Amino acid sequence: MKLTQTLSMGCIAIAAAISASCTSPKQQTAELAWNEQAVENARMQIGIEIDTIEASGKVLNPVTLTSEGDVYYCNYADWRSGFFPGSIWYLYELTQDSTLLPLARKYTKALDEAKNLTWHHDIGFIINCSYGNGLRLAQVPAYKEVMINAAKSLCTRFREKAGIIQSWDVKGNSWQSERGWECPVIIDNMMNLELLFEATKLSGDSTYYNIAIAHADRTLQEQFREDGSCYHVIDYSLTDGSVRHRHTAQGAAHESAWSRGQAWAIYAFSMCYRETGNPQYLEQALKTFRFMKNHKQMPADLIPYWDMDAPNIPNEPRDASSAAVIASALYEISTYNIQDADSYHEYADRIMQSLASTTYTAKQGENGRFILMHSVGSIPHNAEVDMPLNYADYYYLEALKRKADIKKSIH
Ligand code: GLY
Repeated sequence: MKLTQTLSMGCIAIAAAISASCTSPKQQTAELAWNEQAVENARMQIGIEIDTIEASGKVLNPVTLTSEGDVYYCNYADWRSGFFPGSIWYLYELTQDSTLLPLARKYTKALDEAKNLTWHHDIGFIINCSYGNGLRLAQVPAYKEVMINAAKSLCTRFREKAGIIQSWDVKGNSWQSERGWECPVIIDNMMNLELLFEATKLSGDSTYYNIAIAHADRTLQEQFREDGSCYHVIDYSLTDGSVRHRHTAQGAAHESAWSRGQAWAIYAFSMCYRETGNPQYLEQALKTFRFMKNHKQMPADLIPYWDMDAPNIPNEPRDASSAAVIASALYEISTYNIQDADSYHEYADRIMQSLASTTYTAKQGENGRFILMHSVGSIPHNAEVDMPLNYADYYYLEALKRKADIKKSIH
């Protein structure tokens, strides 16, 4: 039986499970409409994608669409390779559909070689989203070694003098070399720290935790502006660890607020708070969130422009991926014992209802079989402008799962 045939049966079970919760009937109707629809739609869309790939007889990893409208598939070394396997794990978790389990394992295993990557920092995204979710949900013993091995690989990029993990290599004729950088660190790199925290828990070796803390602390010190927004790139001296440049690579300008960078900061510093209990990390996450929330250019539907200082707002592309990352972070923040915790949940719901609407959610079988439309990869690199992106889908599913977890914990 094709996955898409089994999915609609499973969705009836999800609806029944959600209906059994104990909110008032009125609340249930209001909330069920978009939750239920979002999960069902995601199951169908990712189901169609899986069926398409399985029919090809290959193990493919879908990322986005090319300008010709074809699905672009990546190899294991691409920073985006963990998101498709990770999305299957989240769908499995959201639906408890056991037919998804062997598929999640198969597409995760295809990334095995990524554990040895040392030439860029994205191994945290790659391995934690795939193997990390797999370990959490299926307890496959071999996944533990992959996680620890990957954390070791990431730590080879730690630069003692600056106390940070170098993001990109600066070699030969690469575009990074042309920028004149020595040791560039991008705000995105904060997301890789979750792998290090996990590796310490799995191995008992505090080296990974300590490197994560060093990186987070230096980033906190150097990467943020007074208004709470962050720079995209900080270039450090390898000789004495000082800051050489505060630049952008994917934003509109060095001093602009590239939206996904703000989203990574909100998400990653709240994750660091969860892992360490250091209130400074949460303060920064909330400060960056307030910057975005109160920004005069934030659209009414709460889906940010790709850069909040882009020159032609309102005629600039939106970035659904930033919105999904922020929503997922806010659901997590809403579980902390802080003032106004519910307000973060409510804001996340508003973002998610926009994403779940037909403005951002594609019709089944369309949009290259990705769930969400309207994301931006990198406008300065003319890459993936107003396109679907697999990481928008991944964080959208994670947000749905976090919302479901919160609901379960209350009832
Ligand atoms: N980590 C790359 C990006 O956010 O586009």
